[in-house]
Amino acid sequence: MTPRPENAPHLSDLIERRTLLRVAASAALTAGVVPGGLLSSGLARGLGHGQERGSAESGQRRPSFEELPNRLGKNHAVAPGHTSQVVIGWGDPVAADAPAFDPAAQTVESQRKQFGHGNDFIAFEPLPYGSRSSDHGLLWVNHEHTVDRLMFPDHDAERPNQLHERVELEGVGGSVVEVRREGEQWSVVDGSKYNRRITGTTPCRVGGPAAGHPRMRTSDDRSGERILGTLGNCGGGVTPWGTVLTAEENIQDVFRGDLERLDDTRRKQLERYNFGRPWMPLSEGYERFHFNDEPNEPNRFGWIVEVDPHDPFAAPIKRTALGRFAHEAASCVVDPSGRLVVYLGDDAYNEYLYRYVSNGVVNTEDRSANRDLLDDGVLYVARFNDDSTLTWIPLVHGRGPLTAENGFDSQADVVIDVRAAADLLGATPMDRPEDVEPHPATGDVFVVLTKNRHRGGEHGPAVDGANPRENNRDGHLIQLAPPGGRGNRHHISDTFMWRVYLMAGPEERGSRYPAEPTQDGWFSCPDNLAFDVAGRMWIATDGNESANGLPDGLWMLDPAQGGAPVHFFSVPTGAECTGPCFTPDGTTLFVSVQHPGLNSGSSYAEPSTRWPDFDDALPPRPAVVALRREDGGAIGSPKA
Ligand code: FEO
Ligand code: CA
Ligand code: CA
Repeated sequence: MTPRPENAPHLSDLIERRTLLRVAASAALTAGVVPGGLLSSGLARGLGHGQERGSAESGQRRPSFEELPNRLGKNHAVAPGHTSQVVIGWGDPVAADAPAFDPAAQTVESQRKQFGHGNDFIAFEPLPYGSRSSDHGLLWVNHEHTVDRLMFPDHDAERPNQLHERVELEGVGGSVVEVRREGEQWSVVDGSKYNRRITGTTPCRVGGPAAGHPRMRTSDDRSGERILGTLGNCGGGVTPWGTVLTAEENIQDVFRGDLERLDDTRRKQLERYNFGRPWMPLSEGYERFHFNDEPNEPNRFGWIVEVDPHDPFAAPIKRTALGRFAHEAASCVVDPSGRLVVYLGDDAYNEYLYRYVSNGVVNTEDRSANRDLLDDGVLYVARFNDDSTLTWIPLVHGRGPLTAENGFDSQADVVIDVRAAADLLGATPMDRPEDVEPHPATGDVFVVLTKNRHRGGEHGPAVDGANPRENNRDGHLIQLAPPGGRGNRHHISDTFMWRVYLMAGPEERGSRYPAEPTQDGWFSCPDNLAFDVAGRMWIATDGNESANGLPDGLWMLDPAQGGAPVHFFSVPTGAECTGPCFTPDGTTLFVSVQHPGLNSGSSYAEPSTRWPDFDDALPPRPAVVALRREDGGAIGSPKA
């Protein structure tokens, strides 16, 4: 097969041409000749998928760096010609008066002032505000969860420890730290006025349709507008006005309770959100996290939370207009109309892809004028049609089935039980939608589906064009093309085009990449996605180790270099790689190493790695790593 020319069109470039062909195509589709999956793979072949094996080896297709061998180890590793530096890790000081980290003497007060555990999504906000500075800025880092058996020397799985639990509740949330680079060295600015922790107990405000609603009120908060803490902070995004959106994902993990003691309606509501099988339940003493005692507390988590890193006194705000689910991404793009569009994934098996469109337009001059954009807008859910179109269906109270007859008395009910609302609208269940990222140059939107063992056969919903693998162990990526010209996509349109972009995994499980990777270049379980200054795609994985016994890490995929993924970075054993984030000039790539040492049998006394300190007195510590090129150039760019 002829290799794809370097200037081959992207899917989005084909849309205008395809519009001309639509009548003919839809005639064929209604005749049932071409199901969506086949059409999309046909389109993919036209774009150069399915090239002969080994084409990545040919001369002009060499990556800009030497590929990193893919081997599991106790340490991280980066491609030759690059440096890595641990910038900040669990227990390091954030507040000016934070005590030194002492794992044997952890307290609520110390953890509240120190960097949290389980670091995930990273945002770099240049300082001064509005600049493109790449050596000075604010880092926002999510702290998704804790791992008690690797944190506390006196951990005992049989005996819940309330001190540990209180410390853990301070170890989640997020951190803001001011960072500077001098030469090759990044450091946290000690005592910066910006440095702060947001935790599982920080007072948060509530905006949008659920604010103040009776279903948001509890015995501690009669207003329904003041929530203590944010939980499960996994992925996220950055708004055009420099605030961070942190995504509350697996909020069910800490809640205890007995579903059988609930009435039918409430039990179904909580079951739809997987409550009742907690992963790190909080014990007695946390009445608010017992859903029998405090039935509305679960409604107060699972939101997109806006945090202003530039204002150390600004309270986080839960933006309920963006719906309540296991939020992963919150990627913002400004539509040509000026309205803000946020792409959102619900990261659970057979859940949905969402989009939020603001009613107002983004004000680029006055950031405070954007205060209500995330409270006043329309949430949509995606249906992937067989004819390679995608329909965005609005989730609006009173429209279609979203009425009192079906349990939706107001828009507050719609956003609180948005999964049930989306069920009624015929949304397409997906193979765990994680990150969703618009390409900065073309405007195409890439959706990462990490895996789905509940797909097909006995396991769950049947395979379809957008989720074509039964028992999907390896995950895949879908490319969406909003209508409009390249770089001028109409993200508010109700109809997009879609195709499967790549099928991850090894060759023997039916993988398909834009061009054939080397033996180190393939991966399973894509999770987070970032684009660099030149529009190259960087894919972080979560599950490559469990699927293949190979490390999780980062792979670069550059269509201009043939489109074969190239292995760039690997995390230590037990860890997943999250939060890839470039400085504006592309010379530093921050990544999160999350849960190093989380292997079966790993314990505080005998962890599978003591990354990053390799000190027998210290447990493994999740941490943020800064990756740079030895010559200071943009990572991934061809050398001068
Ligand atoms: Fe927390 Fe969806 O990974
Ligand atoms: Ca994730
Ligand atoms: Ca993950």
